[in-house]
Amino acid sequence: MVELTRCVRFCLNRIPAPESGKFNTFSAWPAMSGLGRYYELLVTCRGEPDPQTGYFLNIKAIDTAVRQHVLPYLQTIVAPGEDPSQVPMGKLMQRIITLLQQPLNASVIRVRLALTPFYQLQIRSCDMDHVILRQQYEFAAAHRLHVPELSDEENRKIFGKCNNPSGHGHNYQVEVAVKCPIDNNGHIATVNKIDQLVDNEIMERLDHKHLNEDVDAFANLNPSVENIAKVIYDWLVVAMDKENLKLEVVSVWETGKTRCTYPAGVLS
Ligand code: NI
Repeated sequence: MVELTRCVRFCLNRIPAPESGKFNTFSAWPAMSGLGRYYELLVTCRGEPDPQTGYFLNIKAIDTAVRQHVLPYLQTIVAPGEDPSQVPMGKLMQRIITLLQQPLNASVIRVRLALTPFYQLQIRSCDMDHVILRQQYEFAAAHRLHVPELSDEENRKIFGKCNNPSGHGHNYQVEVAVKCPIDNNGHIATVNKIDQLVDNEIMERLDHKHLNEDVDAFANLNPSVENIAKVIYDWLVVAMDKENLKLEVVSVWETGKTRCTYPAGVLS
């Protein structure tokens, strides 16, 4: 079995223009018209490739299914006179995956809608009662990687420049993935609610701090990106639990090239 993921990019403009941008599906089709709305939909299907063609599913079938079935539905939500800010997002995600399941022979296992470059909603066919909400954040902090039990020479050998006695800084990027129940009205927790919890539990404690000096959790714990991801998860999971939200995964980027995710192997 394989999993195939296709990203479909499109704009929702007030006046639907299905022909606009059909020559540039890389950017978006329909293309942007004036001040429109841009989204990405990532559709993941699972199945067995055909032994002759090597195809499990023609990606054009996914593009067609999104543009023929999902886009007209989304257009009705942003139509003049409607208020898209009040749309029940849990119900919307259920509808999107259902609309795709019929034309794609029920091979769709998950759908992820990128509402901004930093905020995404995902629904999985195995759990239609929840939406996974992903939101990103940034904080600036200094740290020094140092183990007191080791000699200065050993510390320099293991940690290199990161052992600099005065420390050094990073702009850390954080992504949280939260499992939100869909209520009877089709709503899920708002991203504002998640932002508030992250602000209280994480940003207040870490932003513009020297992790070794200012943060108790790192008084006797080396502030590696691995330990930072775990500490953030442990703080946030408790606060989320009180709000009936399940924190699934925390990812921390120390640089654009280095990311640590905790716990491992929870979500794909
Ligand atoms: Ni560092």
